[in-house]
Amino acid sequence: MSILNSQIEEHYYHPDLYNDIINRLKELNVDLNNVTRKDIARVDEFHVRGVEVSRELAKTANINSSKVLDIGCGIGGPCRMLADEFNCEAIGIDISKEYVVTATKLSKLVGLGRKTKFIHGDATNLPFKNNEFDVVWAQHVQMNISDKLSYYSEIHRVLKNNGVFIYYEVFKKGHGEINYPVPWADESKISFLEQSSAMNSILEQLGLTKNLSTDQTESGIKILEKISVRTSENIVPKLGLNLLMGASERNKTTNLLNGLKDGKIHLESGVFKKQK
Ligand SMILES: C[S@@+](CC[C@H](N)C(=O)[O-])C[C@H]1O[C@@H](n2cnc3c(N)ncnc32)[C@H](O)[C@@H]1O
Repeated sequence: MSILNSQIEEHYYHPDLYNDIINRLKELNVDLNNVTRKDIARVDEFHVRGVEVSRELAKTANINSSKVLDIGCGIGGPCRMLADEFNCEAIGIDISKEYVVTATKLSKLVGLGRKTKFIHGDATNLPFKNNEFDVVWAQHVQMNISDKLSYYSEIHRVLKNNGVFIYYEVFKKGHGEINYPVPWADESKISFLEQSSAMNSILEQLGLTKNLSTDQTESGIKILEKISVRTSENIVPKLGLNLLMGASERNKTTNLLNGLKDGKIHLESGVFKKQK
C-alpha cells in the first residue's frame, strides 16, 4: 500500500470499532438479537446530514434494483440503506480494513448480510471488470484522493453505458485555506480539496454528462450548527459520528462548519451519466 493510503487508513483507524459499537448498543439497552438499521443510523453514515441526504440522492436518481458500487463506503450505512430501501445489490469498497470488517459485521447484525458486500481496496485501482455497475456512488471521499484522474477514470471504467455516477462531496470554493483538523484529515497532507469544476472537466472528457447538481451547503450548515450547539452544551450521543471522529470531533466539526460559512468550501451533490 502507498504511504498516502496508509496515512489515510491510520486517520480513520479506530481499534476494535465493531465491538465498541456493540458495547454502546448494550449501554443503550438495545436487544442485540434484534438490532435494526435505525439503532445504528447515527454512526453508520459518515457525511453531513447522514441517511437523510443519501435517501434524497437515491430517490432523485431513481436507482431502484440497481447494482451499486459505493466507493469509500466507510462502515457501510449507505450500502445498507440502498439494499434495504431501494432493493439494490450494494457493494462497498474502502481503503480502511477496520471499516470493511465493521461494515460486514454490521450488515450481518441487522440482517442485510446477503444483500451487501464489502471489499478492502483502493478507489484509484478498482478490482472490478469494465462496465460492471449501473450506479457508482461516492460520498465525502475525493477529498482524500490526490490522483483525481485515476479516481474518475476508474469510476468511468466500471460503469455500464447509461449508468450513473452519484456524488455528494466537499469542494474547494474560495481561495482561503481551511483550518485543520476536519473530519477527513487531521492535517493538510491527506486533504486534496479541488473545485467542483475540476471534477466536471475530467468527467466530461471521459464521456460522462452532468445531469444534475445541487448545492447542499445551506442544509449542511443548518445541521452542523445544531450539532455544534449540542456539543458546546456537552450533549454527546452514546453512539454517533463522535465515535468515528474521536477526541478532536469538536474541532473537526467547528472547522468544517467555519469553512462552509466563510465560503472557503461548499457541499455539492449531483448525477453524471456515462454516454460512451
Ligand atoms: C468521510 S468517510 C465517508 C464514508 C462513507 N462514504 C459515508 O458517507 O458514510 C471517507 C471514506 O473514504 C475512504 N477512502 C479514502 N481514500 C480512499 C481510497 N483511496 N480508496 C478507498 N477508500 C478511500 C476512507 O477510508 C473513509 O472510509
